[in-house]
Amino acid sequence: MNQVIQNMEKQREFALTQREFEKLTGLVHSLTGIVLGEHKKDMLYSRLARRLRQLGLQSFSQYCELLDSRQAGEETGFLVNAVTTNLTKFFRESHHFDSLTEHLRSLSMNTERSKINRSIRIWSAGCSSGEEPYSIASVINSSVATLKAWDVKVLATDLDTNMIRTGSEGIYKTNSFEGIEGNYRQILEDNVRRKNDVLHIKEMTKNLVHFKQLNLLHDWPMQRKYDAIFCRNVLIYFDNPTKNSLVQRYANLLQPGGMLFLGHSESLHQKPEELRLIGKTTYIKEEAA
Ligand SMILES: C[S@@+](CC[C@H](N)C(=O)[O-])C[C@H]1O[C@@H](n2cnc3c(N)ncnc32)[C@H](O)[C@@H]1O
Repeated sequence: MNQVIQNMEKQREFALTQREFEKLTGLVHSLTGIVLGEHKKDMLYSRLARRLRQLGLQSFSQYCELLDSRQAGEETGFLVNAVTTNLTKFFRESHHFDSLTEHLRSLSMNTERSKINRSIRIWSAGCSSGEEPYSIASVINSSVATLKAWDVKVLATDLDTNMIRTGSEGIYKTNSFEGIEGNYRQILEDNVRRKNDVLHIKEMTKNLVHFKQLNLLHDWPMQRKYDAIFCRNVLIYFDNPTKNSLVQRYANLLQPGGMLFLGHSESLHQKPEELRLIGKTTYIKEEAA
């Protein structure tokens, strides 16, 4: 088996030693929280080999030297964009959007809340290319008519600057409809315009969403509490201490009664006391006693 791996490594255009692999994965972990295990070696190689060619470098050792040099700033940004996994789709795990719709309807009909604070804040943390925050905004537009007169904003953040650019443009392929369940197909149809064989998110939907680059490991700029936070299919890339600390920070940022949505394989083994599981990977922050 080792012989097979060695032969594969010999055939590679650029040699990647174990030491260089560990240096790169260590840097990625400290910059992003993303853990790249041994099984990600081919992925790291193929994504960075392209970059080495672009830069005219001969080896990974030269690339590591570049990352150690004064010019590293710009290159670490590239490294970060290269290692993120951005797979996403509109209305992924659609049961979360059923719970969101119910939550928003009940907030908009809560007379106490509407007297003191007619605004709603939702955060899509790790939003990738924007399908998740636009799904949220589409639900707001199409399914919660009672929110029309409210100030509603969806904050969409991601580490990867390429994803933030794509999301801000709000243009998607027509095959984005594939696999969308139930009435969410129609909801998406109502919130896009077809133009030259692509889908443009309608202005009224786009205007609800604000894209910003943000590394979840860094300080967060939010001044006020959130009614719902989506952090789906992001925590799986982190180690347990990073995961636990992030989930506690989400709990702190939620309004009492606010909801946290995680990805389908991200159930919490160690959850903050104030969060209660109310559905599949869906948590609510307990109202203060
Ligand atoms: C698989 S996508 C999930 C997209 C969407 N939430 C969904 O479930 O469809 C994971 C996203 O997390 C982002 N990400 C990874 N580490 C991050 C970090 N430290 N800070 C912010 N975003 C991060 C990646 O750039 C990527 O776009």
